[in-house]
Amino acid sequence: MPFTTEALTTDARTLLSEDLLRKFDTPGPRYTSYPTADRFHHGFGPAQARAAIEQLAPGSAAAPLSLYVHIPFCESICYYCACNKIITKHHERAAEYLDALETELALVLEPLGAGRPVSQLHFGGGSPTFLSDAELARVMDRLAQSFRFTPDSEISIEVDPRTVTPDRLAHLRGLGFNRLSFGVQDFDPDVQQAVHRVQSFESVKALMDSARTLGFTSINADFIYGLPRQTPESFARTVQQIGELRPDRIALYAYAHLPERFKPQRRINAEELPSPAQRIAMLGDAINGLLARGFEHIGMDHFALPDDPLAVARREGKLHRNFQGYSTQPDCDLVALGVSAIGRIGGSFYQNAKTLPEYHQSLARRELPVVRGYALDGDDLLRRDVIMALMCQGRLEFDNVERAHGIRMREYFGRELEALKPLAQSGLVLLEDKAVDVTRAGWYLVRAIAMVFDRHLQASGNRQRFSKVV
Ligand SMILES: C[S@@+](CC[C@H](N)C(=O)[O-])C[C@H]1O[C@@H](n2cnc3c(N)ncnc32)[C@H](O)[C@@H]1O
Ligand code: SF4
Repeated sequence: MPFTTEALTTDARTLLSEDLLRKFDTPGPRYTSYPTADRFHHGFGPAQARAAIEQLAPGSAAAPLSLYVHIPFCESICYYCACNKIITKHHERAAEYLDALETELALVLEPLGAGRPVSQLHFGGGSPTFLSDAELARVMDRLAQSFRFTPDSEISIEVDPRTVTPDRLAHLRGLGFNRLSFGVQDFDPDVQQAVHRVQSFESVKALMDSARTLGFTSINADFIYGLPRQTPESFARTVQQIGELRPDRIALYAYAHLPERFKPQRRINAEELPSPAQRIAMLGDAINGLLARGFEHIGMDHFALPDDPLAVARREGKLHRNFQGYSTQPDCDLVALGVSAIGRIGGSFYQNAKTLPEYHQSLARRELPVVRGYALDGDDLLRRDVIMALMCQGRLEFDNVERAHGIRMREYFGRELEALKPLAQSGLVLLEDKAVDVTRAGWYLVRAIAMVFDRHLQASGNRQRFSKVV
């Protein structure tokens, strides 16, 4: 489709005026969980995690589980990267890691029992495709022996396009994977050089075409705006190429530049970063460009083609949110395996050791490698429902919350509803008698609305560790 920046409507740019962003684009969490992971504490360890898993013992709950497997390795460093990864060219490290992963799985199966139904499996990283075909087969085999995958399971994997070929994709499909997420970020060669991640549009397009032919569905591609050397003009070209690539789903992240926290980012020349005004222009143009090319805005950071199940769920008000972002599946118990992985069992979150030595040491002691976690109380469960309703449905119906939690909204959330008034005056929400409705403009800044209900954030006031929307 011929499309130029001049032809873009100013719709998204108008909706997201600089004034609005100045007021409400404060750093904040993405709410892939509530409470957010920074609330986890060391008082919750292996014993508490084991007790939580025991409560899921066979017969106590029939709902299928979700599984997450973290593979931390990458061969080369992308300077922008904020993920939990280990850069190494030593592929033999993977075998040792898989031994540890199998020990962890055995420890989880002790209280959980083998043969539990699973409807979702996600491999994340790092780069799961750092593993060889044989190593991936080994993990999948072990999981298939340990769990019972439902026939319609979503089995997905994050793929760095530089690490696969069409043949490797065919191997993944043969192992049972049916969804892929490609890390792309930007197609501009200059930007790719500045972030030390070079991959051509043609190579990604060829992989996308192979993935489709092989029967992968809901294929996602990740992009980032705000990277060094990006300009509104260069990013408009990338958006045009996204239109040609036509992934079923798009994650469009704002680059979070926190060099004090993420060491590789110190290799980025801060003078090459786009200005705040350029970032706003890039986001506005990208939204317009994607909508004009037929993608639908799902919610924070995410777009999808209209026939993708995520877009259908959004239209039907059936979206959910979990650690991977938006999902069509209700939030189910999540068993997480691997270094730094986060799981959720019943009303508890737990996180594994973040470094490999710590992870290996726990497993050598035959102890779950859980280092921190959090048990939700009644107030957390209530606020989680409120925040997820805002993030997923864009509407908070008081009756639903009052029925589920036995409270009166106006009494329980008097302070919060008062705090929403300035957001209402700025057009981000409509305050109705028995509901809060997120407007179109509010949908782009929905985390600012959700933050009002986050007791922990309001109590600590510590937002600087989070990134901003724009
Ligand atoms: C684990 S990586 C994806 C899989 C694979 N390692 C790859 O790079 O292709 C997860 C995604 O997080 C996003 N990401 C990483 N660092 C980021 C940052 N500092 N700001 C915003 N998004 C970031 C990127 O879009 C990246 O594709
Ligand atoms: S973006 Fe992906 S490939 Fe690059 S360093 Fe991060 S996890 Fe590794």
